[in-house]
Amino acid sequence: MPKPEKFVYVCVNQRPEGHPRGSCSMHGARDVLMKLSEEIEGQGLSGRVSLIQSGCMGPCSEGPVVAVFPDNVWYRGVATGDVAEITKEHLDGGSPVERLLLDDRDW
Ligand code: FES
Repeated sequence: MPKPEKFVYVCVNQRPEGHPRGSCSMHGARDVLMKLSEEIEGQGLSGRVSLIQSGCMGPCSEGPVVAVFPDNVWYRGVATGDVAEITKEHLDGGSPVERLLLDDRDW
């Protein structure tokens, strides 16, 4: 089997309720992870895309945070309803979904 073309990291870090930094799990990251798994398989990308659950990657207040490498593309506030589009347009088609991008100011 060839190496995957892309690695998709989903932060599923969880902090206690009321923690000042918040966390991606508090904003539904585990549902996003599950939906990504379904879409990657459903769209026939299992051999090309590797899905990885991650700890905190930094921009906690913007979660759920999803990072795609080697593209170095970062998504913020990803919801389950965004996942099919990210999978089709970016993971398969190579075009990041602009409206969900985390920019440098958000870091
Ligand atoms: S908790 Fe997800 S980026 Fe920090």
